[in-house]
Amino acid sequence: MGVKKEARLRGRFKEDINEAVQHYLASLPYDWRLHRHDIEGSLAHAEMLARQKIITRSDYTSIRDGLHSIMKEIESGRFQFKLELEDIHMNIESRLFELIGDTAGKLHTARSRNDQVALDMRLYARRAAWKVLEALQRFNSQLVDIAEKNIKVIMPGYTHLQQAQPVLFSHHVMAYFQMFSRDIQRFESCLSRINIMPLGSGALAGLPYPVDREFIAGKLGFDDISANSIDAVSDRDFIIEFESAAAIAMMHLSRMAEEIIIWSTAEFGFIEVGDAYATSSSIMPQKKNPDAAELARGKTGRVYGHLMAMLTVMKGLPLAYNRDLQEDKESLFDTVDTLISSLDIVSGIVSSIRINAARMKYSMQSYILATDMADYLVKKGLSFREAHDVVSRLVTYAVDNNRELNELDIREYRGFSKLFDKDVLAITLQKSVEAKSSQGGTATVEVKKSIERARDVIRGYEKKQS
Ligand code: ARG
Repeated sequence: MGVKKEARLRGRFKEDINEAVQHYLASLPYDWRLHRHDIEGSLAHAEMLARQKIITRSDYTSIRDGLHSIMKEIESGRFQFKLELEDIHMNIESRLFELIGDTAGKLHTARSRNDQVALDMRLYARRAAWKVLEALQRFNSQLVDIAEKNIKVIMPGYTHLQQAQPVLFSHHVMAYFQMFSRDIQRFESCLSRINIMPLGSGALAGLPYPVDREFIAGKLGFDDISANSIDAVSDRDFIIEFESAAAIAMMHLSRMAEEIIIWSTAEFGFIEVGDAYATSSSIMPQKKNPDAAELARGKTGRVYGHLMAMLTVMKGLPLAYNRDLQEDKESLFDTVDTLISSLDIVSGIVSSIRINAARMKYSMQSYILATDMADYLVKKGLSFREAHDVVSRLVTYAVDNNRELNELDIREYRGFSKLFDKDVLAITLQKSVEAKSSQGGTATVEVKKSIERARDVIRGYEKKQS
């Protein structure tokens, strides 16, 4: 009873393992998180073994009952994890020996830890991708609500962080909807490669038993089985793809976090983050710091790091399994934890934000309409380059005289081009926005269309989930 890994796996050695090495090798401190997937995989495997008559029905039922008890022990916190057993797989197997005796030894028939861990990681990554998709979809529908509710708000659009042209605030928000929609597509695409069943590959060569791999795939909800046993135990592309999709999503979140941070400054004052998402300073009592947004921006770094780490772990690995692959776990787990918590936090910040529409409007200088004036001259027959030249001179004149464009009178305008008529003074922020009615532009009709299309996309998510 209680057969130790030592006793079972070190048969050919004369010495015990060095204790420091044992600690160095142990993945238990993090791979305990795979327990549910490990047991789920073992249950399907054992059932298949019995159906194929590789083990007896009664062996199967005692293995199954034993695994169910272990699951309960782990979930209730009663399970005694042992670091010397190295990983979650050996911990569960060893406990199974304690519970059902030598029959436990039959569970590992036609299986290696190499295909077992590949299966566990795919089950984990699949569930994680579902959770990320849910979080991204929820966030996207929140963004559409905000865009719809604030459709009248006009803000300065920027290039080079200099005021460029007026845009609808909703148009700016819907830009993020597009980014996160592509993130959703990336995770969906990645899922189709995650959801491939590797068990039945053995250590690397396949198995000398009449296993039914399709049965296991069906039981565990996989789309297909892996095609090559060597690839199946050594491939971690699915993790790298996941981490790459996560890195891109974090980059998008970080850009949003950055805008939340700068828009909350006294200089911008476009928004105010809710108190629940801000902190104060230990020395400057006036401060309201957007720490949560800063941390979402900062945590993007570690997600990039995990992607780099895994690409580097893999680059020199000969086929097939190598212990280096164990490094995939902390890397993926932390990626998932960071992405999901960052999405939740940024979504919370966004829901707490108070928008200062008046501030957005009054921050705009009249020069933001300069391009509209050039477009005005083009409509009267000038080439765009000539029109650009006329308006630049006009702007220089206004700036030099410390005046806004709408403070100049029509005679001053006509000093730069006879094509200017009184109606040039009627160009407003709203008119500028509405003129940008090309597809995907900021005119209210176009933004409303984009919101409509987004609603369709969101209804699509809901349909897929149900
Ligand atoms: N903890 C190991 C890992 O994460 C499990 C697989 C061990 N396989 C082996 N042949 N030593 O990769």
